[in-house]
Amino acid sequence: MSFPLHRYRRLRRSESLRTMVRETSLAPSDFIAPLFVVPGKGVRQGVASMPGVDRTSADLTGKDAKALADLGVLSVILFGIPDHKDAKGTSSADPEGPVCRAVRAIKAESPKTVVMTDICLCEYTDHGHCGVIKGDTVDNDPTLAILAAEAVAHAKAGADVVAPSDMMDGRVGAIRAALDKEGFADVALLSYAAKYASGFYGPFREAAESTPSFGDRRAYQMDPGNVREAVKEVLSDVAEGADMVMVKPALSYMDVIRAAKEVTNVPLACYNVSGEYAMVKAAAANGWIDGQRVTLEILTSFKRAGADLILTYHAKEASQWIG
Ligand code: PBG
Repeated sequence: MSFPLHRYRRLRRSESLRTMVRETSLAPSDFIAPLFVVPGKGVRQGVASMPGVDRTSADLTGKDAKALADLGVLSVILFGIPDHKDAKGTSSADPEGPVCRAVRAIKAESPKTVVMTDICLCEYTDHGHCGVIKGDTVDNDPTLAILAAEAVAHAKAGADVVAPSDMMDGRVGAIRAALDKEGFADVALLSYAAKYASGFYGPFREAAESTPSFGDRRAYQMDPGNVREAVKEVLSDVAEGADMVMVKPALSYMDVIRAAKEVTNVPLACYNVSGEYAMVKAAAANGWIDGQRVTLEILTSFKRAGADLILTYHAKEASQWIG
């Protein structure tokens, strides 16, 4: 019997003791801030369902990235809302599109920021799906070349990391090959390896104007009941050349984060998605929870589960809170 020999409360008695024995802690460099870029200049628009998150034109995105870097947030991931959408998402590879312009603006304003770009077609297609449509579904193989062209365009603009979120099979290999062929062997690839068909993306789709006009994404994103399948996705993306992998969403998928951590040694990210953010903000605004405390608890839990990096809309405020 361990009691009274072991009294665990001995090491919980003071903040200093608790800090000394804490197994998991947060730093601003753990966070990757998602930023939404719109066309134009001097534009800043709030997102109703995501208080504290704005959509900005490239010039202001550059300034926001600098402010984040000054707080120690070393990386951002860009999502673009283009002027033009068509069936094939052609504007995704436009060198004058919002993402490419923002990459250049950030590199000018904040050279040390690691600029990541989301690679997907749903913001650029008029039907809102993540690839080209054939009949009533998304056609995997013809989509790969379009995604690869988008990645090459972002690399040309100066992106450090491209992050495919479309969930087409084989896209990591296709993007890696295209980058290498075009002279971008040093551009890294963060794969949204285990991305689930989730109800938690609702506020993002408002911000990115990417809600599918028919059907849903269940025929290409993963089923929420599966974890062994996530392991397969992670292993095959690493085999195809992913430098880092991601689990998304994060909050209700911490077992998936842990499972991914156990099978690979590449850096592991998780995406604390828009719906997770909106829930915390809504409850805090009602006075039902302590928003700061709950946010830091959630972010700590992602790291405890095994995440090395956290994509989160809380990046700025959390960095201010942890100092
Ligand atoms: C797709 C993409 C989505 C998110 C990131 N990339 C939405 C989707 O798959 O429908 C969601 C992020 C969030 O909810 O915060 N390009």
